[in-house]
Amino acid sequence: MTLHWTHAATDGRARAGMLHTAHGEVPTPVFMPVGTAGTVKAMTADAVRSTGARMVLGNTYHLMLRPTAERVARLGGLHRFMDWHGPILTDSGGFQVMSLSGLRKMDEDGVTFQSHVDGSKHRLTPERSIEIQHLLGADVTMSFDECTPFPATHEEAAKSMRLSMRWAARGRKAFVERPGHGLFGIVQGSTFEDLRAESVAALTEIGFEGYAIGGLAVGEGQEAMFATLDFTTPMLPATHARYLMGVGKPADLLGAVRRGVDMFDCVIPTRSGRMGRAYTSRGQLNLRNAKYAEDDRPLDPDCSCPACRNHSRAYIHHLLKCEEMLGPMLLSWHNIHYYQALMARMREAILAGRFEAEAALIEHDWTKDGE
Ligand code: GUN
Ligand code: ZN
Repeated sequence: MTLHWTHAATDGRARAGMLHTAHGEVPTPVFMPVGTAGTVKAMTADAVRSTGARMVLGNTYHLMLRPTAERVARLGGLHRFMDWHGPILTDSGGFQVMSLSGLRKMDEDGVTFQSHVDGSKHRLTPERSIEIQHLLGADVTMSFDECTPFPATHEEAAKSMRLSMRWAARGRKAFVERPGHGLFGIVQGSTFEDLRAESVAALTEIGFEGYAIGGLAVGEGQEAMFATLDFTTPMLPATHARYLMGVGKPADLLGAVRRGVDMFDCVIPTRSGRMGRAYTSRGQLNLRNAKYAEDDRPLDPDCSCPACRNHSRAYIHHLLKCEEMLGPMLLSWHNIHYYQALMARMREAILAGRFEAEAALIEHDWTKDGE
């Protein structure tokens, strides 16, 4: 059987379910830590697993440049290469080409671009992106798309979305079906309801194992993102997983789960951890702040991660001041742990039919400013 999602409960529009993959089952809603270059930055695979994470993301763009997809395949695939034996979702590369590479040129067939590493020239097409993701051994392969920049006029967004839909159809043809593996389509259309509807219709006509919502968290702001989700998730088939790409902060995850999203990935917990920020049940803390220099409390009294069990805010503040590697490591660990605990708490609440009551408690505690 190909990769698929089964429904367990709905509460309001929030859903709990299970994603069934070649490398195991993943309860949803799920947050996937980002392992861009074959590593969730500053964490071992065992550490990532110990946070409760069940699925991670890898990137076509980074891995095709270094060490190349062919080399990863010769070394036994990405699971073995990075010692991650749970499911892996790989992004298709288009988004990263646009955000990271230098010179790039897009045409109907694909994108030619210069590597951000050494300036060398590369090409990605829908077919090549699918082939690379196959070589990596992805459980979930993403369609090759263009993430429409924001803001875009209706005409620009329509043109960009329609190109992504033609690429999605080519990718579907190139995808090699294997048990437990699947291909997701990516809905585009910026913040325009008619374009999102056209995109959903085009993708469901082709047929995918799951549906992602792309082109959000690109500068439109939380209100416009939620408004777009308000009309987009109801258009998607209730039988399939829905994945909001590149989102977000804890409040974004809660708001998107409330609107019917099942899957997420984001660099925020790891990237902001490296910059000294902790997300906790009582809001955000910036551990570089001098007010933590003698704060003997854990980051989050409600968290059971090693950073919170064994260390004080004062110690982590000290590590950051000295630029010790352990500082970013502990904060990345805590943040990923916190994100996993948040998703598990939302899932339990959906299963128990008390999502809004639990959401109100969570949101109330976020206003406490760490105190
Ligand atoms: N990551 C965040 N947004 C997007 C998007 O629209 N497309 C892809 N492929 N990846 C993303
Ligand atoms: Zn913690």
